[in-house]
Amino acid sequence: MKLLDDLSLPESPQSTTRRRFLSTTTLGALGVTLAGTLAICGRFLWPSVLFEAPSRFLAARIGDVLRRPILFLRKRRVYVVRDERGVFSESAVCTHLGCLTRPNPGNDGFFCPCHGSRFALDGTVIKGPAPDPLAHFKTEQRDEHLWVDVSVEEDRDVRIKV
Ligand code: FES
Repeated sequence: MKLLDDLSLPESPQSTTRRRFLSTTTLGALGVTLAGTLAICGRFLWPSVLFEAPSRFLAARIGDVLRRPILFLRKRRVYVVRDERGVFSESAVCTHLGCLTRPNPGNDGFFCPCHGSRFALDGTVIKGPAPDPLAHFKTEQRDEHLWVDVSVEEDRDVRIKV
């Protein structure tokens, strides 16, 4: 047995390098394949949905509306407005190119800082270039609170008596 061992040729440094190279390359390719497969499988563990705030939300208390004629819900891009006929909610997004409008300093309407459109308190266009009035949204009173649903447009004449 010893004779056979003595006869076997020692591995050359070159073949060892080739073997290591092939092993490393094979393991690397397997690793990359496995990582890609896991990434693709992991992608299906999370739903492909866009998480948005609910369209119906608690907008204000009646007391807040009675104190101020315009409540600007900036995050929701909505105004809750009180005029002589009652309370309603309307979009704060300009109908020209979508800028966020602001209440006039006298709270008698709204203006758009982008191109100068002006709107009456009920959202009617007073001065362009905005082509359309501000949209009104469905507004409901529950106890002492006002709820607004921005997914439902409301007729422009609808008001809540407070
Ligand atoms: S975006 Fe409001 S006037 Fe142009």
